[in-house]
Amino acid sequence: MQISRLAVAYLAVVVPASCQLDKLAKAAGLQYFGTAIDNPSLNNQNYMRVARDISEFGSITPANGQKWSNTQPSQGRFSYTSGDSIANIAKQSGQQLRCHTLVWYNQLPGWVSSVYGKDQMQRIITAHIQNVAGHYKGQCTHWDVVNEAMEDDGRYRNNPMYRAMGVDYITHAFKTTAQTDPAARLYYNDFNIERCCNAKINATLSMLKTVISAGAPIHGVGMQGHSRVGKSPSKREMKETMAKFGELVDEVAFTEVDIRHTKLPTTAADRDQQALDYVEVVGACLETPKCVGITVWDFTDQYSWIPGQYPGEGEACLWDRNYNKKPAYTAIVNLLQSAASSGLRASATPSSFR
Ligand SMILES: *[C@@H]1O[C@H](CO)[C@@H](O)[C@H](O)[C@H]1NC(C)=O
Repeated sequence: MQISRLAVAYLAVVVPASCQLDKLAKAAGLQYFGTAIDNPSLNNQNYMRVARDISEFGSITPANGQKWSNTQPSQGRFSYTSGDSIANIAKQSGQQLRCHTLVWYNQLPGWVSSVYGKDQMQRIITAHIQNVAGHYKGQCTHWDVVNEAMEDDGRYRNNPMYRAMGVDYITHAFKTTAQTDPAARLYYNDFNIERCCNAKINATLSMLKTVISAGAPIHGVGMQGHSRVGKSPSKREMKETMAKFGELVDEVAFTEVDIRHTKLPTTAADRDQQALDYVEVVGACLETPKCVGITVWDFTDQYSWIPGQYPGEGEACLWDRNYNKKPAYTAIVNLLQSAASSGLRASATPSSFR
């Protein structure tokens, strides 16, 4: 395994207890370091101790609670129980809320999938956004308005909204969200748009141009950042991608980062490689002035979605299932600390939200 001398330094330094992710990310010039949290873990005290620690996580994303299947399971019947449980934790802890997501093909109730008329779909999207974004109005620093609209091969994903409205559903969703919650930063969010420049990134760039010129108010692009240890995109590739998105929007962010091992159990060398892979992501963000923050898709292996989605893979998070911090955590802290002390982002635009 090739490990640069600089990278070894990130792995080696001992981290004092006071050095925590969000505190250091802000000192280094980012707006936040955040995590997704999910409803099934909220009664676990070990979990909540870390989730509520505002020096670790300045931003919270509800992993599932705000998705369509939870917020409007049947037409006109809105439910905010799951989303509110997480929004309230963020509020009580003084953390910002990064909201997720309004229009997505997955976890979409069957009644929406069976709508084919353009006008009817447009009314349904309007009502959904006015209700959900209206309910959370003033609480969301960011909204992932449209999630995963593109296929890996660059085609528009043939989802129910696209079938009914074509690309206009994207423009319409952004316009409606902006009218409903004008203070939130509005994002397009997707996966496999990190490594410059695959067909999906190219298609996403042209989709963004199309909808922005049709009047969609898009502030940011969220790169989800799910990847595999040893096969993650490099800092250079991610910076190149962010520079391209940055030509079209004000800000970019990593929104769902986890880097999974494809072989379990892991060795110490695997865990060091994972640390280097995480460092590439954080480094790419730090070196991109428009990159505002990083969110990990849950922080402990105990509740990671990966083993359920990719059987045999896992241990993708910064904390293991017993709440021990991994080398990846230490490496990120060391990188943020050195970025903070070198003033790498001193000229970055300060957050307008907080
Ligand atoms: C994406 O676009 C760039 C130029 O803008 C081009 O060099 C590259 O080959 C394209 N990638 C694919 C997979 O089409």
